[in-house]
Amino acid sequence: MATLDPIVEFREDHRKVRDLLLDIAGAAEKGDLPKARESLGNLDKMVGPHFRYEEEALYPTLRTFLGKYVDQLISEHDGAIATAKTAAALLAKPSLSAEERKTAADAARALLVHVSNCDGLNILAERLSGQELDRLAQHYEGSRKAGVPLIKWADTIRGR
Ligand SMILES: [Fe+2]
Repeated sequence: MATLDPIVEFREDHRKVRDLLLDIAGAAEKGDLPKARESLGNLDKMVGPHFRYEEEALYPTLRTFLGKYVDQLISEHDGAIATAKTAAALLAKPSLSAEERKTAADAARALLVHVSNCDGLNILAERLSGQELDRLAQHYEGSRKAGVPLIKWADTIRGR
């Protein structure tokens, strides 16, 4: 029996992601690379299970309401993963030029749009039955327990 509330946890995840992205953008702009790298590492760890839950459980369930528009959400993830990889590649460098710092900060800010769009899906999830929400909760827990970070998940399990 799942114990978490998928609607509450979904929003809570988005708050954490929002804060981490703002930290990354701010740190990259200031040239504080250790801080930017640390926040990106935390983001990678927490977004992996979140994206996995979305693609394996939430999106297929929301197809009832959204139909083919679910495919658009998956393509948005393609873009978000590519952007995260760009930021990771830049921040892995020993030092960054002013232009590179701006590119890393822009990448983090671009991902903020996905966070705010994604959070809007909760308004649809509220219309799911108790049984469906319970199934989502179980997937959410399972995905968190597996704990595969974003880039590793994208490169190994995701299969796109
Ligand atoms: Fe999300």
